[in-house]
Amino acid sequence: MQVVKSVSELRALRRELKGSAGFVPTMGALHEGHMELIKRSASECGSTIVSIFVNPTQFGPNEDFAKYPRTLDDDLKKCEEAGATIVFTPEKEEIYGKGTPFITFKVSSDIASILCGKSRPGHFDGVVQVVSILFNIVQPDIAFFGEKDFQQLAIIRKMASDLHFPVKIKGIPTVREKDGLAKSSRNRYLSPEERSLAPNIYKVLEYIKQKAVSARFDRLAVPIEFVEAEAVRKLESLVPGIRIDYLEIRNSTDLSKSRFLVKDSHVFIAAYIGNTRLIDNMFIGG
Ligand code: PAF
Repeated sequence: MQVVKSVSELRALRRELKGSAGFVPTMGALHEGHMELIKRSASECGSTIVSIFVNPTQFGPNEDFAKYPRTLDDDLKKCEEAGATIVFTPEKEEIYGKGTPFITFKVSSDIASILCGKSRPGHFDGVVQVVSILFNIVQPDIAFFGEKDFQQLAIIRKMASDLHFPVKIKGIPTVREKDGLAKSSRNRYLSPEERSLAPNIYKVLEYIKQKAVSARFDRLAVPIEFVEAEAVRKLESLVPGIRIDYLEIRNSTDLSKSRFLVKDSHVFIAAYIGNTRLIDNMFIGG
């Protein structure tokens, strides 16, 4: 495995690669979820390039950019173990140059003003900016993203298609702890007590899925707002003090809203336990 910091080194190595190139963009603090993406890429592609870059443009002014965990030595071990060929660890100037970026991105408000885009204004503009720059540098054949960030995945698919990037985008199912909590770099912010409460988010997702399955079985048209309101009450009673940012059922293809549970209904949750913002989602059908 080779580790490079500059675009020119990366490009030189990229030219030498034979067969297809898989790409796993990350912000480091790697866990089993990232390792699964790297393993999938290593099993499907001739070579796998992983980037580790905590992208400043996707963090709001009061968010956790400064304290975002930076664990490079451990990350490199994990990349090696999972089968990465090249790890790209650029500094900010390597990606954005000096001074204010000349080109910025604005994601369409349809998709960027809902769910995480509503509570994190500008977040997806920053994600699209860095991922498109990384795609141009790495020139991957296939790029792998976790379904835990389902809205991000939907936005990147649209960006890749709109900008005609010759790359296939693959979503990989969320990796969970034994108790159901979705693996996330931010889980390490949780105190032991918060950590013990956090799996209730998964429990509530499962509960909503069960409701959707029974509704389908009984051929009932269940209004989504009732299911959402009941699930909010349930989560608030299971996790005292939780601050739910959103709990919404939307269609998984275009993230639009329906009145009733439909065939491709998907539930999305973001909530603060203590100061830690956790997100999760699940396909529930209907
Ligand atoms: O999902 C992430 O870790 C980041 O949003 C990404 C895709 C690496 C862009 O910085």
